[in-house]
Formats: sequence, structure tokens, C-alpha cells
Amino acid sequence: MLPLNLKGRHVVVTSGPTYEPIDPVRFLGNRSSGKQGHAIAAAFADLGARVTLVTGPVKIPDPFGVSVVHVKTAQQMLDAVLESLPADVAICAAAVSDWRAKDIADKKIKKKGGPEEELTLTFVRNPDILGTLGSLPPPSNSPLPPEGGGMGGRENAPVRPQIVVGFAAETHDVVVYARDKLERKHADLILANNVDGGAVFGSDLTHLIAVSRTGVDDWSGLNKQQAAQRIVAAVSGLLG
Ligand code: CTP
Repeated sequence: MLPLNLKGRHVVVTSGPTYEPIDPVRFLGNRSSGKQGHAIAAAFADLGARVTLVTGPVKIPDPFGVSVVHVKTAQQMLDAVLESLPADVAICAAAVSDWRAKDIADKKIKKKGGPEEELTLTFVRNPDILGTLGSLPPPSNSPLPPEGGGMGGRENAPVRPQIVVGFAAETHDVVVYARDKLERKHADLILANNVDGGAVFGSDLTHLIAVSRTGVDDWSGLNKQQAAQRIVAAVSGLLG
């Protein structure tokens, strides 16, 4: 097999959790370590790609040779990803919070009652970064000039990366749900983490099932670096 060379390609990767503020001291977050997304970014960079890594708050170092944008919330992550376009490939490995507080309190929420006191917060849905990328219009070979010939027309409109990849975490019916996600989010490849009976968050081992429009591959017993290399190889195959 020829060694892959991704020189000249731009790859954008999301990684880590997002933190959605509730008040100045509290947030809604999750336990994503960022290990898989960071390993994917590093693996693409190793093969010569220009990589933009948009990461939520993680405790691991920035990978070498990668341009890193640090964000906290899902909205900031979406803005940074759109800002980084155009890209040939987008890999959405972040564990984006599906929800954010409807109203962020500007002062710390204080206890007001006794031990029986209840607190109700309202959350609203966050933008879906993977779904947004998958639904962008494809690049046009003959872009129309902006109306009036001014700046800010179609030339600046974001276009869909050629390959859009997402992740899923499932305990059952892994392939069925992955195929559904592939369609719903207009992705080209879904990497489904089979989390039945074991934790993946924070662990170095992974069991991935790769679902594309052309087939299903079972990649078990890989550490996250090995999984990253398999992902790079699969994406390179799809890029052609
Ligand atoms: N994702 C995203 N933006 C969001 C939510 C998810 O980009 N607001 C991406 C993740 O990075 C991942 C994929 O979408 O690539 C996961 O989709 P999601 O719908 O969150 O999957 P599940 O967690 O499996 O959710 P569900 O069980 O509701 O299908």
C-alpha cells in the first residue's frame, strides 16, 4: 500500500466537551477527555494535512503541528468551525452538549430555602455542528459574483467539506442508529462507539463500528491512536 500523503488538504476536527454556563460559577458539561479527537488531529497532521483543531476544555496538551482554537460553548465551537472553512474534511469528535441554559444567571444562584428546596432550570437545544456542516451547500465550480459586485456575497458563504464524519455512542442496535445518524446529519461516515458494558470516556481503548454508504467495518480492540490512523485511512479512501 502506498503511504498516504495529505499535503495540501485542510482538515477541521472538533474535540472534547463543551461547557454551557448556568451562572458565573456553574456549567453543564460532560466527561469527554478529548483523547480521540486530539489523536485524530495529530494523525492527519502526521500525514502532511493542515489541521485546525477546535476543542472544548480538556486537560491534555495541544497536539504538535496543529492549529488549535480553544472554545467553551457549542455556539463558540460552531462559530470557530465555520470560521475555519473551507476544509476538505470535517471530523466531529467533540461531545457537544445537546443543551444550554435558556437564561444564564449573571449572579451565582443562591440557596433560598431548606433541605427540601427544589431548583428548576430550563435548557434549550444547542446548534448541531455535524448536522450544520453536512447540510452546507457543496462548493460550486462557477460561483456567481456577489450581487452589486461588493464584498460579503457568495464568495464568503461557507461550503460543505467534501467529507463530513461524525461519531455516535450506542449500547444497542449500533448499525441501525449509525445509519440513521448518517442520513439525518448528511454525513459521509459515522464512527459508532459500542459502549455496551464498558466506558469509553477517558479510556484508551475503543470499539468502533465504521458505517458509510458503502458498508460497515468493525474495528475492535484498538487504542485511540490506532483508531485515529484507521479513521485517517478510511477518510483518505473516501477523498479519493
Ligand atoms: N454533534 C455536534 N453538535 C451537537 C451534537 C452532536 O456536532 N450539538 C456531533 C458529535 O460531535 C458527534 C455526533 O454529532 O459526531 C453525535 O451525535 P448525537 O446526536 O449527539 O449522538 P448521540 O449522543 O448518540 O445522541 P442520540 O442518542 O440522541 O442519537
